[in-house]
Amino acid sequence: MPNDNTRIRKCLFPAAGYGTRFLPATKAIPKEMLPVLTKPLLQYGVEEAISAKMSTMAIVTGRGKRAIEDHFDISYELEHQIKGTSKEHYLTEIRKVITNCTFSYTRQIEMKGLGHAILCGETLIGDEPFAVILADDLCDNDGESVLSQMTKLYEKYKCSIVAVEEIPPKDSNKYGVIAGDVISHPELDSGSLVRVTDMVEKPSPENAPSNLAIIGRYILTPDIFDIIKDTKPGKGGEIQITDALLTQAKQGKVIAYKFKGKRFDCGSVDGFVEATNYFYKKNNSSKNQAKDGKD
Ligand code: UTP
Repeated sequence: MPNDNTRIRKCLFPAAGYGTRFLPATKAIPKEMLPVLTKPLLQYGVEEAISAKMSTMAIVTGRGKRAIEDHFDISYELEHQIKGTSKEHYLTEIRKVITNCTFSYTRQIEMKGLGHAILCGETLIGDEPFAVILADDLCDNDGESVLSQMTKLYEKYKCSIVAVEEIPPKDSNKYGVIAGDVISHPELDSGSLVRVTDMVEKPSPENAPSNLAIIGRYILTPDIFDIIKDTKPGKGGEIQITDALLTQAKQGKVIAYKFKGKRFDCGSVDGFVEATNYFYKKNNSSKNQAKDGKD
């Protein structure tokens, strides 16, 4: 189907990392399949992409990640076992995901960094703008999803968009940190949009250009692939997406967006526990509301 280059149709999920911070749990289970309550992190990400009207999910996997493909597929034996029983509703959400999307996969053979993982997705994305979700950054809000907020901005500005949040200065060495000039937008709080002029991967607090850190949500224009091919390994010897984005930023083609909503760093044990507590409370309060409505 021809694409008019305004609507984002595809979402890329780099999911090849080792997840060392979750060892030994991630020895045989991909980090992206760890559940917050009963749902794997990756399914939350896919549902966010669906909420932003995307239906093509492109997943970059690696060795030991087969559980991801099995999750987004029909399990005939299981379906047969629970069909018509009181347990059938447990499969409702995942069935909806499977029937509403197509999934394609490629492998990153060597873990050479996030930029390299995104480049591996080129064969699945082709020559069109696309979204990227890092499923270990779990986002939630009561209104429009973070990715949906970002696709609207893409439709207006037609350039790469990165989601940012304010971080304590001491944490700058965990993130890509940006600097730039504020753009005013009639519907957004002042300071929500920044035309990026500089970005640094994992700077020390003294070298951080601001307290605005990139989190795991991006909209990227397809020229990023050629830029990544020309990007040399950076911090930690890895090919960094931040370094490739800096090339676009120097051309005035990257906007940072202070998104509305909550984000949990589920790549760390603290963030994962925080997310679990948050969703547990949220689910219980909606269950109680539903019960009160019935009484
Ligand atoms: P992280 O650095 O948070 O993931 O990368 P990790 O390496 O799996 O985690 P730790 O530090 O060892 O615990 C952010 C995202 O980028 C993907 C990861 O899967 C994760 O979703 N990634 C990173 C790749 O797909 N390939 C890479 O080479 C690096």
